[in-house]
Amino acid sequence: MSDEPSQGDAGTPASEPQDGESGILVAYFSATGNTKAVAEQIAAVTGGDLYEIVPAQPYTDADLDYGNSESRSSLEMDDPDARPEIGSEAVDLTGYSTLYLGYPIWHGQAPRILNTFVEQHDFDTLTIIPFCTSGSSGIGSSAQGLAELAGSGDWLEGTRFSAGVSAADLQLWIEDLQQ
Ligand SMILES: Cc1cc2nc3c(=O)[nH]c(=O)nc-3n(C[C@H](O)[C@H](O)[C@H](O)COP(=O)(O)O)c2cc1C
Repeated sequence: MSDEPSQGDAGTPASEPQDGESGILVAYFSATGNTKAVAEQIAAVTGGDLYEIVPAQPYTDADLDYGNSESRSSLEMDDPDARPEIGSEAVDLTGYSTLYLGYPIWHGQAPRILNTFVEQHDFDTLTIIPFCTSGSSGIGSSAQGLAELAGSGDWLEGTRFSAGVSAADLQLWIEDLQQ
């Protein structure tokens, strides 16, 4: 501890992020870490808060086997009504004006847990910026599908990134959005 008064002396320690301070939330689901890495970079560049959509039942490697039509992920993606339960504490969107919403592409679509997430929230006062990572597929109609399910919010066009997208490219994308 230095003797210098820190910015946070008036209340909260300066080192602790305050929810909603930036007005930006980066919410994401990531099964194998690619989308998580992109989300963390977006949060770092924007000063936004991070929220991870964590499945109540974690996905095992066998669950994620997209070559197996009977794996959990294949069965969920085959079923438009599947709504895997979210295990992380629900996030309060009050105070945020911008939501970056990230997910991997599964079978050309957003994983069904994103459906669970968008149906649980009211996006009325929010601008939503969807982003995804994938092996090669584009974002396709996945973000429009989520927007339709949500039924509220101002949804911008979604963007797909490869797993190895550079921090510089992400920064350029964010600067473009903020203009
Ligand atoms: C169940 C499953 C289905 C997938 N389907 C596709 C697909 O249709 N197109 C594609 O390009 N990549 C597909 N992938 C690859 C992922 O989109 C890619 O590895 C992504 O970056 C994973 O993100 P994550 O590490 O955040 O989970 C699939 C991966 C899994 C596990």
